[in-house]
Amino acid sequence: MRQAGRYLPEYRATRAQARGFLDLCFTPELAVEVTLQPIRRYGFDGAILFSDILVVPYALGQKVWFEEGRGPKLTPLRHESDLASLSVGGLRERLAPVLATVSSLTKSLPAETTLIGFSGAPWTVACYMVEGEGSKDFAATRTLAYENPDRFQALIDLLVEATVDYLCAQVEAGAEVLQIFDSWAGVLPEQELRRWSLAANSEIVARVKARHPRIPMILFPRGAGLLYREFAISSGADALSLDVTVPLDWARDELQGHVTLQGNLDPLLLAAGGAELSAAVERILETLGNGPFIFNLGHGIVPQTDPEHVEALVEKVRRWQRTEADPPATSRRTAGS
Ligand code: CP3
Repeated sequence: MRQAGRYLPEYRATRAQARGFLDLCFTPELAVEVTLQPIRRYGFDGAILFSDILVVPYALGQKVWFEEGRGPKLTPLRHESDLASLSVGGLRERLAPVLATVSSLTKSLPAETTLIGFSGAPWTVACYMVEGEGSKDFAATRTLAYENPDRFQALIDLLVEATVDYLCAQVEAGAEVLQIFDSWAGVLPEQELRRWSLAANSEIVARVKARHPRIPMILFPRGAGLLYREFAISSGADALSLDVTVPLDWARDELQGHVTLQGNLDPLLLAAGGAELSAAVERILETLGNGPFIFNLGHGIVPQTDPEHVEALVEKVRRWQRTEADPPATSRRTAGS
């Protein structure tokens, strides 16, 4: 969950060598370096490919750029003709530098570190494509989906096609796990969440697994609330990433019997540090750590985070793992029989 980035001085130094953020994503030597930085420092179990969810709209032919300090910008897609100009055809070619980063990482990562590939979910990527920038509520996108559901469905279908192809290409280049970020699922009401998020993500999971049956897939439907339960039961994902609002006891009782869980420390608590941080980490580990679980944040690391807080967090989780965690089911079975 965004482990590389501006909180690390070495990231800022590498970033300064690139012309812009997309240039960093599309220069394999630099993207490999930035992916490895948090692994060198902290030895996380998983390394997430350094790229961005918005490389997909770029590969479909939309203009995408990042303004310093203001986040992503795209030429907004509002009309039928805007959609007609996009095409999945050149996707693998335009994303070749990202795929080169993935295959180079398979050689440069330590053998014990799992390489995670990713993409945005169709709904979240469509939000940026229609709005043309970030937003609190993605009102233009929701309005388009209400006023012109057929045209919006065509955009979602195009993104499903592109995402399946892109994720499969990452697996073929060496990604060992895939994560789909539906960061804006939470702006949708119940029925729309099922239609634009759950349905599209389930289709992607099924189609990727039809081609790569053994690839584990993690889904992050941020803000899905009680509908996390439907994602656990019917999305087909192996794991769900929990946002910071999901109650831990509820997640253990209602979700963990169906899927592996990942999450959900508040990144702002990691930035704040201190006793509140320690207590929250313990509560997460005690509640979820004895089922299938990946310790993680509930959203990306924020730039103001002191890198030492991350180090202390890793030590704390590792210590807990050594002393408190139940042995894995396989060794328990061996020991007991
Ligand atoms: O963990 C990693 O190192 C993986 C790399 C990664 C980035 N973006 C790098 C990045 C991943 C997995 C993403 C996903 C992403 N990108 C999401 C989904 C996850 C989430 O956070 O909800 C979204 C919504 C985006 C779109 C995006 N990219 C936004 C809104 C921004 C601006 C935010 C900001 O903090 O400025 C970006 C830029 C971005 N992507 C940065 C990084 C490290 C900061 C860019 C910089 O160096 O200035």
